[in-house]
Amino acid sequence: MSRIAYIDGVYQPLNMPGILPEDRGYQFADGVYEVCAVRSGRLLDEARHLDRLEYSLAALDMPMPMSRAALQQVMRETLRRNRIQSGILYMQVSRGVAPREHMYDASLKPVLVMTARPISAERRAQIMKKGISVISVPDQRWARCDIKSISLLPNVLARQSARNANVQEAWQIDGQGMVTEGAATNAWILDAKGVLRTRPADNDILNGIVRQVLLDCVADLKLKFEEKPFSLDDALAAKECFSTASTMSVFPVISIDGHKIGDGKPGTVAKQLSDAYDTVEKKLPKN
Ligand SMILES: Cc1ncc(COP(=O)(O)O)c(C=O)c1O
Repeated sequence: MSRIAYIDGVYQPLNMPGILPEDRGYQFADGVYEVCAVRSGRLLDEARHLDRLEYSLAALDMPMPMSRAALQQVMRETLRRNRIQSGILYMQVSRGVAPREHMYDASLKPVLVMTARPISAERRAQIMKKGISVISVPDQRWARCDIKSISLLPNVLARQSARNANVQEAWQIDGQGMVTEGAATNAWILDAKGVLRTRPADNDILNGIVRQVLLDCVADLKLKFEEKPFSLDDALAAKECFSTASTMSVFPVISIDGHKIGDGKPGTVAKQLSDAYDTVEKKLPKN
């Protein structure tokens, strides 16, 4: 079955031409995106993703491409046409198409693109079981990482460095030696004193949806928790480290820069939070 993309009003095979050369997303990375997890054919945390999409668009002075209700219909139809039960839905909104110049006209019509792809539940289970390894890299990004912008070059380079080092993720380190976040994940530790920590959602990180959901779970699980930046040294000395993102929810980190974290195995708090996140799936309304 060929994959189907939604491109500016048309559902079409993914490999057919669709984007125009003067789309500002293509020429300037002038756009935003969202990635939603799909489980049992249903979208996880849909409202939060749509809230964040609106936040990113507003921050860049862009309108929604259509009403929220219409967008939700396209999301469901894209999943249906691709028969996705477990996987991710990608949606991107660019500012629109115009002759290439840096300034933009407020009347531009945004271009909406959606794609979907499967990720098996077994793959998620395998990551929880085996964990991932991470390297640290300097954070080379801009001052508005809270916007889910499609301008991802530093993240691309960070992830490629990880791949070149034969590991799965790169944690980015700011000028003060503090961990900001992964190339495409938020970063967490259970510090040497047993306190769960993640960086506050300031302009230096994306306020991840899994991060937001887990913050709600932390109180229920009665974990000691601080929303406070931590350094690379804190992470190396931590009992546990893990990353979070919609693609896989929780990724236990078993080593950083070749140093074993804790006993070098996925930690119990990461597992607890992953299980807590999985219960969200069970409470989902029908699409
Ligand atoms: C830079 C960055 N941080 C964090 C995340 C995690 O966000 P979410 O939990 O919404 O997937 C992502 C996901 O793409 C990301 O790209």
